[in-house]
Amino acid sequence: MLQKRDSAGISFGGKLYQSGGRGDWSFAGAGGDALGRAFLCAGRTVRSGRGIVFAVRRDHREHFWILSCVQGVPAGACGCAEPRVGAWIMITMRSINKGYMLGEERLPILKDIHFSVDKGEYVAILGPSGSGKTTFMNILGCMDVMDSGEYYLDGMAIHETKEDDLTDVRNRKIGFIFQTYNLIPQLTAQKNIEVPMLYARISRKEREKRSRKLLELVDMTERAKHLPSELSGGQKQRIAIARSMANNPAILLADEPTGALDSKTGRLVMDLFHKLHKEQNKTIILITHSPELAQETQRIITISDGRILSDERK
Ligand SMILES: Nc1ncnc2c1ncn2[C@@H]1O[C@H](COP(=O)(O)OP(=O)(O)OP(=O)(O)O)[C@@H](O)[C@H]1O
Ligand SMILES: [Mg+2]
Repeated sequence: MLQKRDSAGISFGGKLYQSGGRGDWSFAGAGGDALGRAFLCAGRTVRSGRGIVFAVRRDHREHFWILSCVQGVPAGACGCAEPRVGAWIMITMRSINKGYMLGEERLPILKDIHFSVDKGEYVAILGPSGSGKTTFMNILGCMDVMDSGEYYLDGMAIHETKEDDLTDVRNRKIGFIFQTYNLIPQLTAQKNIEVPMLYARISRKEREKRSRKLLELVDMTERAKHLPSELSGGQKQRIAIARSMANNPAILLADEPTGALDSKTGRLVMDLFHKLHKEQNKTIILITHSPELAQETQRIITISDGRILSDERK
């Protein structure tokens, strides 16, 4: 067994196969804590008590790919779906716990969450009100910190990242869409789309070019100069989706994006998500309490009382 540390400081054991070029190597971990400690099916490996053999390749851009998975963990071992061969791992969470202090007492909200998402997956997180969906999204989106656990986002160890650096991660890697749109009332639709680019210090010329394209993408070019108060709910949400795409993020996180819309307008917003997934291969995590909307995605994760109950890919 080999012990190795990768650039994110994660140590793991197993056989290492050097295949030449810089940053181009593969790794086969067997059983127990091998690759589970790294970025993959973490909890699944450790908890199943069954052997799992798989190989991972890290390319020069620090992206992790699953090359092979000889023996999977029994489905549902931890409420997790099986790792997929050929996948680029976007998110891995292991044993995430989060609670809030109520007076002297700590109220547990998220309990021992194990979770992973591949690049290009379209996932729904389904659960009743109060089940912890927004709390989960806040942690996924690096807007809140977990009490314990490990979280890797596109190979980056979020649980070891300093608060100051998380702002940058949020801005570059994640696009947010909220139920209540959260547009800035004083700014036009186009300027709202440009806000994340301002934080990313994109030049004015480039901002305008990109925001024009994004307006086109969401079919809102004609409303570019409108203030949010001059837009309908569905239009505001389309602008919010365009804004979420401003810095070409790795993932889109949407918390009840159609919750404030009537069914017809909600349909248009859902169609836009489908389009972003299909045409741009965006990784999308959609939080909803509607089983019907969840059915429109590729994978449904059910959450109840802060725990993942089921995780099914279609
Ligand atoms: N800041 C906080 N302090 C204390 N408790 C909180 C806080 N934020 C959320 N909670 C509690 O955590 C639980 C989960 O809340 P959360 O907002 O994640 O639920 P949700 O699944 O998003 O619900 P909804 O579908 O209604 O949006 C709730 O019981 C809520 O009261
Ligand atoms: Mg919520």
